[in-house]
Amino acid sequence: MQHSAPPSPVLLTGMGGVLGEGLGACWPEETKSKMIIAGRRAPKSWMNTPFTSLDLSEGGRFAELLQRLQPKVLLYAAAESRISVCEESPKEAKQVNLLSLQECLPLLQEIGTRLVYISTDQVFDGTQPEILENDFPSPIHEYGRQKAEAEAHVLEASQVVVRIPLLLGPLVEKGREGADAWVLRATMNQTPLSLFTDEYRAAASARSLAPALLQILYGDGTGVYHLAGHRAWSRWEIAQKVCQHANVPWIHEPASLKDWTGTPRPPRLFLTCERAQAELGFHPPDLRQSLAALPQQPKD
Ligand SMILES: NC(=O)c1ccc[n+]([C@@H]2O[C@H](COP(=O)([O-])OP(=O)(O)OC[C@H]3O[C@@H](n4cnc5c(N)ncnc54)[C@H](OP(=O)(O)O)[C@@H]3O)[C@@H](O)[C@H]2O)c1
Repeated sequence: MQHSAPPSPVLLTGMGGVLGEGLGACWPEETKSKMIIAGRRAPKSWMNTPFTSLDLSEGGRFAELLQRLQPKVLLYAAAESRISVCEESPKEAKQVNLLSLQECLPLLQEIGTRLVYISTDQVFDGTQPEILENDFPSPIHEYGRQKAEAEAHVLEASQVVVRIPLLLGPLVEKGREGADAWVLRATMNQTPLSLFTDEYRAAASARSLAPALLQILYGDGTGVYHLAGHRAWSRWEIAQKVCQHANVPWIHEPASLKDWTGTPRPPRLFLTCERAQAELGFHPPDLRQSLAALPQQPKD
């Protein structure tokens, strides 16, 4: 269901990464101009959108901002999403992934703000062939646990959780790029990657998810939505398709999760999107569609 006129203002956090780049590239300029970005710095792909400074690691700042702006809708995509950083500095990561939001949930209710919380397939252990919207999270690392706990609070407050998969998208800045850009950069640098043949992800470009995410933002559904690619491919297969699409030589090597000794990795994460398909007319993109939606990657 859509509101007759888009609610305003809409406040967005966490637009400085691959997701933000994709939404910034796809959402109409007139829509973006009625939104407000809050973050530590203005993201490049949102230059025409008003920006306000916010560091979520500073306690109390977020509540002040919400009081001042009284947003009708809040998209909470800010996160410490680097799995290794969450393992090494769980307290700092938890402030952004969970506590800042949790502290403000009563205030959001008081203001009457619709909250859309961006979550991840990483809240699951990856042992199921496919994951349905109402499956119960089963995280196996700190990032997944923090996101799963945040989800639980958001759902208890009758708000919205959107789980998204491994994202494809261009290099935004050093350390921030889609899974495809990472493979292409290594290929251009002639640095062979070891790619898992037994780790599966239903990857999708942020751009291919952008229209459905806008519908959710302006809609009135609550609970969990999944937005993901139409099937799961191994990391190895994803990289092959990326290199074929970009017409670059194949230099990478196969690897197996069985030999992985770092933070546990869910072997198979396939978010099915039945609710988004039924309610929003969302078509889970196949890899070719996701790659075609992306800008041409620089070849050197
Ligand atoms: N990328 C993926 O493959 C993927 C997959 C599934 C789910 N997700 C989810 O999608 C969302 C966006 O991820 P992403 O990969 O596009 O972005 P990202 O590279 O993880 O960047 C995170 C965003 O959060 C902001 N942020 C981090 N700490 C902050 C703080 N203390 N105060 C204010 N803002 C802070 C960052 O701001 P700065 O620019 O100032 O650092 C940036 O805009 C996250 O919620 C993530 O969990 C991502």
